[in-house]
Amino acid sequence: MKENRGSFSGKLGVVAVAAGSAVGLGNIWRFPYIAGENGGGAFLIVYLIFVFLIGVPVMLSEFAIGRRAGCNAYGTFKRLSPKGGWWLVGLMGIIAAIMIFSFYGTVAGWTLEYVKKSICNDFVGQDDAALAQIFGDFTSQPVMPTVWMIIFVALTSLVILFGVEKGIEKVSKLLMPILLVLIIAICVRAVTLPNASKGLEFLFKPDWSSLTFKGVLMALGQAAFSLSIGMGTMITYGSYIKKDTPLASTAIEIATCDTVVALLGAIMVFPTLAFLGAESAGGPGLVFITLPAIFQAMPGGYIFAILFFLLLSVAALTSTISLLEVPVAFLVDEFKMSRKKATLLSSSVIIFLGVFCTLSFGLLSDFTIFGKTIFDLFDYTTANIMLTFGALLIVIYVGWFFGRKKFIEELTAGGKGNVKLAKFISILVKFVAPVGIGLVAIGSLVIGGIV
Ligand code: TRP
Repeated sequence: MKENRGSFSGKLGVVAVAAGSAVGLGNIWRFPYIAGENGGGAFLIVYLIFVFLIGVPVMLSEFAIGRRAGCNAYGTFKRLSPKGGWWLVGLMGIIAAIMIFSFYGTVAGWTLEYVKKSICNDFVGQDDAALAQIFGDFTSQPVMPTVWMIIFVALTSLVILFGVEKGIEKVSKLLMPILLVLIIAICVRAVTLPNASKGLEFLFKPDWSSLTFKGVLMALGQAAFSLSIGMGTMITYGSYIKKDTPLASTAIEIATCDTVVALLGAIMVFPTLAFLGAESAGGPGLVFITLPAIFQAMPGGYIFAILFFLLLSVAALTSTISLLEVPVAFLVDEFKMSRKKATLLSSSVIIFLGVFCTLSFGLLSDFTIFGKTIFDLFDYTTANIMLTFGALLIVIYVGWFFGRKKFIEELTAGGKGNVKLAKFISILVKFVAPVGIGLVAIGSLVIGGIV
């Protein structure tokens, strides 16, 4: 099976593609609103600790086993450990990928609408209340948000069908740096707005009393979500990494890119929010309300808005590609399905579920399970429960069952990379990450009383 798999062209290619998966709506859309709802500065510190002490080890565990087995998320476990129920971890990952794409597609669809709105100059002269109204009016409609979501899933399917590796690699290498430049320019404007310091204070001055156990769990869930770990995206991508690429430094670079973009995302949002006079909070509409406000306060804001939402859609696309690749690789490898059939089947299921997520902001807004709309339920359950649990099982598997020698071999590409670093990471994988994730999970269940 290994022979006919494509592969990324060396280390820069891996970093570009995996960072393309990691950097997406999770950084720009989800991070600011989750950080805002959970206290800002204190949340941020916990988040950073989780990214590097837990996230990087989990990512490396995924890369290592994926490359070793040369296989999809489910098949990797099945091949490395035919006995025992480890394949269930892979299967849960495939289900998580489908669920994540279902609600992610809704938000990705919004970004397409916002490209259109930017072109039509719909935001000009609107204050924050009007911008919130525009957002609410659009997302609560039944038809257009659904159409955009379907267009987005279809676009992703097209990329998946027409050669993944070289396509995503090129797009990620070319467009992601442009997005970064735009974001930095927007940040410069954000921090020079009147009142910006209040927003920055909220983000960088930790107020520990505002952090709850639930907030800690959400920080872990957000770290997993943002790094695309805990469900097999990185296992699947690991299977495309060449044998001579040392993994350890690769993962650190990816996590750094991802974290920088998340931080910049928050630096765009919170000063703008302070400028608008709104407190914190915001919910899923946060960036869609604050960013149009900042574009109006920028010279060339019209062009900025169009380019920004366009590139944000591309960033979302490089992420959804990595999500769709998980069930597709599974169906192709395990059921010998053609790529075309596998893509059609997976995207149909995603669109079906996606319709319910999209309608959660309108027609189905009163339909709740455990007090959450379907969108919120998918968002909350995947990030905070499935990814967290998946990450826990993956580090337990690699730390205690896969074999330390093999793991270090993979991390250093057979001794080429930094061996000391690899040994340190193997300790994180074996002890620190499982204990850390376990404590957060137990703590939030017992003390936080959340399920
Ligand atoms: N990390 C992506 C983002 O931040 C979303 C994503 C892509 C993802 N693949 C994933 C999340 C796998 C969890 C698991 O936008």
